[in-house]
Parts: sequence; structure tokens; C-alpha cells
Amino acid sequence: MKPYKLKADIVTHDKQILAPAGTEMTDAVLREIIASNKKRPYKSFSLMHHESIGRDLLHCISHPPYQWIFSLGDEYRDLLRLMEKVHLIQPVLEIMNLLKSYDMYTYRHTLTVFTLSTLVATHLIDNYRDLMYEAVSSPSHDVGKICVPPKILQKATPLTSGELDILEQHPVSGHVLLNYYYGDTNNISALVARDHHEMKNGSGYPSGIHLDNPIAEIVVVCDIYDAMISHRPYRPAPYDNRSALEELTAMALGNEVNIDAVKALIALNRKDKPDYRDCKLSDEKRGAPPKMNNYRKIIGEK
Ligand SMILES: [Fe+2]
Ligand SMILES: [Fe+2]
Repeated sequence: MKPYKLKADIVTHDKQILAPAGTEMTDAVLREIIASNKKRPYKSFSLMHHESIGRDLLHCISHPPYQWIFSLGDEYRDLLRLMEKVHLIQPVLEIMNLLKSYDMYTYRHTLTVFTLSTLVATHLIDNYRDLMYEAVSSPSHDVGKICVPPKILQKATPLTSGELDILEQHPVSGHVLLNYYYGDTNNISALVARDHHEMKNGSGYPSGIHLDNPIAEIVVVCDIYDAMISHRPYRPAPYDNRSALEELTAMALGNEVNIDAVKALIALNRKDKPDYRDCKLSDEKRGAPPKMNNYRKIIGEK
């Protein structure tokens, strides 16, 4: 990993500080943190059958546009069967539960991104092993948000630059936490948590790498889509579905995000569910994006 100076403490689900603010996070420090965990291996449990997660997840996708996207007949049953195979280790499940009381949006978003990116992956990925990697890694992409105070997560007005720094640490915090829990620097969930705000052209954060990982790239697209069409405190209204898809199309054409994942989302939004390879992307804009948006804005910025 690129060295990264922590702006906030990295804290586990059971309130243990793994690394305080100010730590220079490097591969060597990460290895020390991994070695410090004497509680592994953890037991794993079915995500869909954990507490109310299965029920909450079905509720999250029960209204438009998800209601249209998941109108799939037999394919929907196959998707649920695949998702039922996903097992997560106990501390990660505990974080999902914590998020429910900590920041309801992040909890719902996590479940929606899991469902949507698993569906997109069934269209884009042929290899079953990679498909399972995708399905297992997406629900934990935002676990690092437990290290961000709710008052920052839920702030409606522009952030201070210090608050933005803390918010934008969540991929690093998630990466460190998942490495600590899984004990493996190549763990796919940890890599997806680290890279889910990176872009293909290097314009993302925290490292500005040129993202080249098909599994993470699907999560990136589904993550942006769900954030755009959801009610968020930093803008008065969500993007309408058309504007969100147009925005993602522009990002795909600008080589920021995976073009096939965007095509798959567009195809799934159509009633006749065409093959994503038959979807042509156009840069024409007909939607009406929200006029005011404080996303990633800092105080004083226009
Ligand atoms: Fe995130
Ligand atoms: Fe996210």
C-alpha cells in the first residue's frame, strides 16, 4: 500500500484502537497490526440469515428503480440463491449491525450495493470463483465508515477540510480492519474496501491509482449509482434515475469507471433486459440533476 498518514483512529467493532490518528500507515505497520490479532480464525455465518439483514435487503430493493431492475423472473431466484451462499466472519457481521444504529443510510446502502453488484457481476463475470469473490466482497466495502463520526457522515453543509480528510479515510480504515480480521493482505474484501473510491483514470482517492480490478470496478459503479439515487443530507434531492445513468455514462466515456458495468446497469433498467453488450452509450443529457450538491465540498468552495 502507498504510505498514508491517518487523520482519525482506526477502531475495531469492539472498540480496540488498531492505529491512532497520526500513524504513518505502511505495509510494515499493516503486517504488525495483522500479527497482533490473536482472536483469529473467526467463525463465519450466512449474511442473508443474520439478524434482520435478509429482510432489510429485500425491503431496500422493493421500490423504484430497484423494483424494475430486479424484475427478473427466474434470474431473481438464482440471484437470491447465490447471495445465500455468502458467509461473512462474525466481526464483519457485527459491523453491519453496528452500522444500522450508527448510520442507517450506510447500512441500507451496503445491502443495496451488495445485491446490485452481485447481479451486475452475474452478467459480466463468467468465472464462478470470481463471481463469489464479488458477492462476498461487496457488503463490506464501507466498513471503514465506523471510524467516521456520524456528525460528519450526516452533515448537510460543506465539510471543513479536516472533516473531508476523515471521511475520505474510510477506504483505508476498511482495508486495515479487514486485513486485521482476515489476516491476509490479499483478501479480496479488503482490496475492494481499499479501492472502491479509486477511478480507472487515476482521479479517485485515497491513492489515485489507475483502478484495474474487474471485481472492485463493479462495486465502484454500483456504489456511485446507489449514492446518486438515494436521499443524502448534502443535497436537497437525489438524482433522478435518468440523470444518474447519464452521469455514470459520462464517467464511463471519460474512462473514470468500467464501461461494461455501466452498460449492464442501463440494460437492467430497461424493461426488455437486453444483453449489456448491445447497449450503446450516448453522451446526450436529458435528465435534470439536482441543482445544489455539497458532495465532497469544503467550506468556502463554490
Ligand atoms: Fe465508500
Ligand atoms: Fe459505498
